[in-house]
Amino acid sequence: MSQEPKTMKAWQLQAFGLENLKLVITDVPQPGPHEVLVKVGAVSLNFRDKAIVDGFYEPEMIPKPLIPVSDAAGTIVKIGDQVTRFKVGDRVTSHLYSRWIDGEPAHNEPDYCFGAPLPGGLAEYMIMHEQSAVAAPDSLSDEQAATLPIAALTAWYSLVSYGNLKAGETVVIQGTGGVSIFGIQIAHALGARVIATTSSDIKGMQARAFGADEIINYSKTPDWAAEVLKLTGGKGADQLLEVVGGDGLNDSILATKVAGRISVIGFLAGQTTNLNLMQLLFRQTNIQGIAVGSRTAFEQMNKAFDQYKIKPVIDMVYPFEKAKDAFKHLTKGAFGKIVIKVA
Ligand SMILES: NC(=O)c1ccc[n+]([C@@H]2O[C@H](COP(=O)([O-])OP(=O)(O)OC[C@H]3O[C@@H](n4cnc5c(N)ncnc54)[C@H](OP(=O)(O)O)[C@@H]3O)[C@@H](O)[C@H]2O)c1
Repeated sequence: MSQEPKTMKAWQLQAFGLENLKLVITDVPQPGPHEVLVKVGAVSLNFRDKAIVDGFYEPEMIPKPLIPVSDAAGTIVKIGDQVTRFKVGDRVTSHLYSRWIDGEPAHNEPDYCFGAPLPGGLAEYMIMHEQSAVAAPDSLSDEQAATLPIAALTAWYSLVSYGNLKAGETVVIQGTGGVSIFGIQIAHALGARVIATTSSDIKGMQARAFGADEIINYSKTPDWAAEVLKLTGGKGADQLLEVVGGDGLNDSILATKVAGRISVIGFLAGQTTNLNLMQLLFRQTNIQGIAVGSRTAFEQMNKAFDQYKIKPVIDMVYPFEKAKDAFKHLTKGAFGKIVIKVA
């Protein structure tokens, strides 16, 4: 007999704006035949969660009320009668593109994302389809595992699944946020030379501790692309993880070698860009849009994290009741990940 209560505490976004995120009591959802009920241990915040709460992330596809936050880790407490992949007691994480298992993504992956439009993890319990749950690494706590689904997987998919990163290559990682710190750790573990850009000398020093070999302060050195060229003997980096977007993409092309790779994952400086096409043609750059990654890539990444003993970098863990403070912290900027402990 299942022991879960009938009701649970959950944060609900009732209208756009952080002031409309309300702590409520609601029914514990029940798993369908192929679903599992997860007692959430922790969630981590991504830029996407904040953009959803603030109403500028595809606002027309956000249902209300919504339990937000896509990245969660916890323990399965109940399973549907046809579940075969997991059993009660297994620890799992969510997987953002919950139906993307392997190969190329389908046209409608965004329709099946946790934290909008599907209910997210900022609640005591959440439902996952058995195919969309991923076994959490034994070596990581729930707080650590909750940081993996978007930030770590996006960095991994960009650099390794798409980028086929090899030891000895040079990678530029922009910034020291959630995705970028994972990018630095992964690239370093695989033997690449890492050039990290940041607006803060202090964060730059911290980034060195996680594997950055060279730091460029992009506030003090706005022409950071020229600096990358200097550091690479005029050649440019093999790969670049683009979190900034906007017109800065032109600098990224300059900072990357001829026929190099840019994984465009972010849009911090703007969702559109004025691209210098002549420069792009002359440098023959491969520019690839990346949206997280497949479940297979996620599982490969978890093995690599165990193998290389990569531990997620967590800036702060907030208690469940202080979830709004966690969102405010993200707005201010974090070094690595912001986590909310649920159970
Ligand atoms: N495509 C995907 O699947 C996917 C997945 C995850 C995230 N994203 C996107 O990727 C971006 C970053 O996400 P995140 O979660 O890592 O954000 P985050 O934790 O808020 O980190 C943002 C960091 O970016 C850096 N930054 C800002 N402006 C910069 C600039 N002009 N040059 C270099 N660095 C700059 C800052 O680092 P410093 O403080 O060191 O300057 C800042 O801390 C967001 O746009 C997010 O939506 C996309």
